[in-house]
Amino acid sequence: MAKKLFIKTYGCQMNVYDSERMAEAMAPEGYTLTDRAEDADMVLLNTCHIREKAGEKLYSDLGRLRPLKNAKPDMKIGVAGCVAQAEGDEIIRRMPMVDLVVGSQAYHRLPELVRGPRHAVDTDFPVEDKFDLLPKRTGKRGPAAFLTVQEGCDKFCAFCVVPYTRGAEVSRPVDRVLAEARDLVDKGVRELSLLGQNVNAYHGQLEGRDIGLGALIEALAQIDGLSRIRYMTSHPNDMTDDLIAAHRDQPKLMPYLHLPVQAGSDRILKAMNRKHTADDYLRLIDRIRQARPDILLTSDFIVGFPGETDADFRATLDLVEKVGFGMAYSFKYSARPGTPAAEKETLPDAVTDARLSELQALITRQQRAAQDAMVGRETTVLYEKAGRLPGQMVGKSEHLMAVHVTDPKGQVGDLVRVRVTAASTNSLAAEPVA
Ligand code: SAH
Ligand code: SF4
Ligand code: F3S
Repeated sequence: MAKKLFIKTYGCQMNVYDSERMAEAMAPEGYTLTDRAEDADMVLLNTCHIREKAGEKLYSDLGRLRPLKNAKPDMKIGVAGCVAQAEGDEIIRRMPMVDLVVGSQAYHRLPELVRGPRHAVDTDFPVEDKFDLLPKRTGKRGPAAFLTVQEGCDKFCAFCVVPYTRGAEVSRPVDRVLAEARDLVDKGVRELSLLGQNVNAYHGQLEGRDIGLGALIEALAQIDGLSRIRYMTSHPNDMTDDLIAAHRDQPKLMPYLHLPVQAGSDRILKAMNRKHTADDYLRLIDRIRQARPDILLTSDFIVGFPGETDADFRATLDLVEKVGFGMAYSFKYSARPGTPAAEKETLPDAVTDARLSELQALITRQQRAAQDAMVGRETTVLYEKAGRLPGQMVGKSEHLMAVHVTDPKGQVGDLVRVRVTAASTNSLAAEPVA
């Protein structure tokens, strides 16, 4: 009998990609996806460990699932992702209702774990490559897809769990990436977002040459039918000349770059082990803007890192003023067990909260300005779905802004030239250019 699988995904886009791959791995076992946990024969929680709140979500969701599990004891509950990797069998000790735990590098073994005894835990970093062993991409998909090309991180920023939960930096071979991309394009994909915790550190071999992300993008751009390429997330120290040149030379590479800087004070950047200064970042931004003047820049910030003074925080505001971001995420520092920064004394909550609101207000003003600046301009939109209003299509602009287009003839997958008629902080309205 057909069985139902419910997957909840937390955290970053790499988890979204992994959830798709796990669903595909479970299909040969007779599982199809459901969007209702109540109907499921198996619930899989694909977790994130990046901040304390993200990790706690697992336990609050498990609490919420408890009545369901009591009523349906045969329903399996699996925990995957970065909490699974970090906490392993601790999760089962704390929550015996969990049937299995699968770490982020062992997803190809998920079907085996599901068939096996209760309370199995697999948090190995196996020598084999899970992506090679997972089934080929299946199923119907939208016109925009994720493709993980790199995993893990060797940077060891002092606050961050990723090097521990995802392991060392590894790139997938160029031929596998190209094959998966061609396959996705055959299935109707027109936009690919290349993913990696440190995607611009990508390195591979093409025709006997060592190549980086810039050359990989050029190779992908040769695929007929693929119209747009994006990538994320990048580290400033890995923005190579090749990659910057691709922003100038490759029209399929969208004018958008997410480049987390975390802070604007050199003292804090050093304590964070970021290995770049604020000035390095600003000079890099200048070079990127010379290559692609209309590029939209976005970033991540951490506020309230241990030892952050008011002057340090002012330096962050100053950097934001100088760059002018199209959007940025800012987070309250969260001490993560096992990271070097976790040993240090944290700031009073009230101080961090006040700084966070000040930074967020500035970022929101910049975001609004970037959105407003689009009004009256032309851009291209890839339609991803029908809008809520009749005759309306929704998709992303070249700059990854959400756009609502009045276009009764529009179809999902169309790439349409539009003129922007109105803007709000989070979306644009537009009409096709006649
Ligand atoms: N590999 C990416 C993404 C890392 S996680 C990168 O290097 O940018 C995404 C963001 O979460 C980070 O950029 C950082 O701003 C934030 N983050 C990571 N650890 C954190 C912590 N301990 N507390 C608060 N925010 C954190
Ligand atoms: Fe974490 Fe990114 Fe730093 Fe790696 S580069 S340790 S993923 S914040
Ligand atoms: Fe979270 Fe792991 Fe991604 S910690 S941000 S799910 S790499």
